[in-house]
Amino acid sequence: MDLHAPKPRGRGVSIRDLSVQFRTPSGSVVHAASNVELDVAPGECVVVLGESGSGKSVTARATMGLLEPNAHIASGSITLDGTELLPPGRAIEAARGRRISMVFQDSLSALNPVHTVGAQIAEMFQVHGKLSTRRARQETIQLMRKVAIPDPDRRFRAYPHQLSGGMRQRIVIAMALALHPQVLIADEPTTALDVTVQAGILDLLLGLVREEGMGLLFITHDVGVAAEIADRVVVMYAGSVVEAGTVEQVLVRPRHPYTRGLLQTAPSVSHARRDQPIAGSLPDPADLPTGCAFQERCPVAVPECHQVRPALLPVGGGQQVACHVEGADDD
Ligand SMILES: Nc1ncnc2c1ncn2[C@@H]1O[C@H](COP(=O)(O)OP(=O)(O)O)[C@@H](O)[C@H]1O
Ligand SMILES: [Mg+2]
Repeated sequence: MDLHAPKPRGRGVSIRDLSVQFRTPSGSVVHAASNVELDVAPGECVVVLGESGSGKSVTARATMGLLEPNAHIASGSITLDGTELLPPGRAIEAARGRRISMVFQDSLSALNPVHTVGAQIAEMFQVHGKLSTRRARQETIQLMRKVAIPDPDRRFRAYPHQLSGGMRQRIVIAMALALHPQVLIADEPTTALDVTVQAGILDLLLGLVREEGMGLLFITHDVGVAAEIADRVVVMYAGSVVEAGTVEQVLVRPRHPYTRGLLQTAPSVSHARRDQPIAGSLPDPADLPTGCAFQERCPVAVPECHQVRPALLPVGGGQQVACHVEGADDD
């Protein structure tokens, strides 16, 4: 029996109609995520793409049950392998770190500075996996090898500050993988790293998807990274999903004016110049306009866009677009 053959695990994550709001000290309500729809199947990489502040991390933290106390989940359902995770409580507590894990951008803050990295990975096996110290160490070395950390015996004894950013991120990924999660959420895990190191980490994550059937929800603001690893792309803008589909649909034949604008600012995907960003900036999430959130920046907006918020609707082939002008026909 080939133990290393791809074996899709579970049914993945399904997010339906997720709306998250924050109450600020001044009393205003930040609409961080609105009616988000998102699926990650086993063995696929779904990239959530959007500029800073579009609600990517809030969606991820909601899924992990890690939202701040001032967050209010106004609507929605999040299931992992068919189990409802909302409202956050025992279901996500039981799943977190075991069936679903998350890696953040800042590896240094994810690690304890006074313990060796080896001890921190081993602890996953000892505390959650109930392994002996010796077995935990063996598993740790094996896992460090799997995430391509050279000379794992020596690095086991290193402290976080003694490793490069890329090696530290691999340690954090190893910790997230220790208990063999069905789904991994990676929130801008390579944003702080240089391009070569980033490429190595993307390869590593994709390998886990392709070879082990893990579902990967990868968050980035970088169109080039999305093009490199995504099976499907979900584009977010001001807390809403504006477009979703396969990587070819969304990055080669985008329908939403925002996605088109994003691609024009990405030299690695289109041949447009980088000095043509989308004019304007994200609307204030505490004061979203009536209608489409992109209306102020949109080159094709019509009066309806100022009145009615466009729903995310199918436009064929599984692609979905939330746009009155470029989306599905009304009739
Ligand atoms: N704890 C919080 N309290 C208030 N507002 C928040 C909090 N966390 C996030 N936000 C707001 O929610 C919006 C979406 O944030 P986020 O999901 O972090 O964006 P992204 O990850 O796409 O850059 C932003 O306007 C952000 O300021
Ligand atoms: Mg973020």
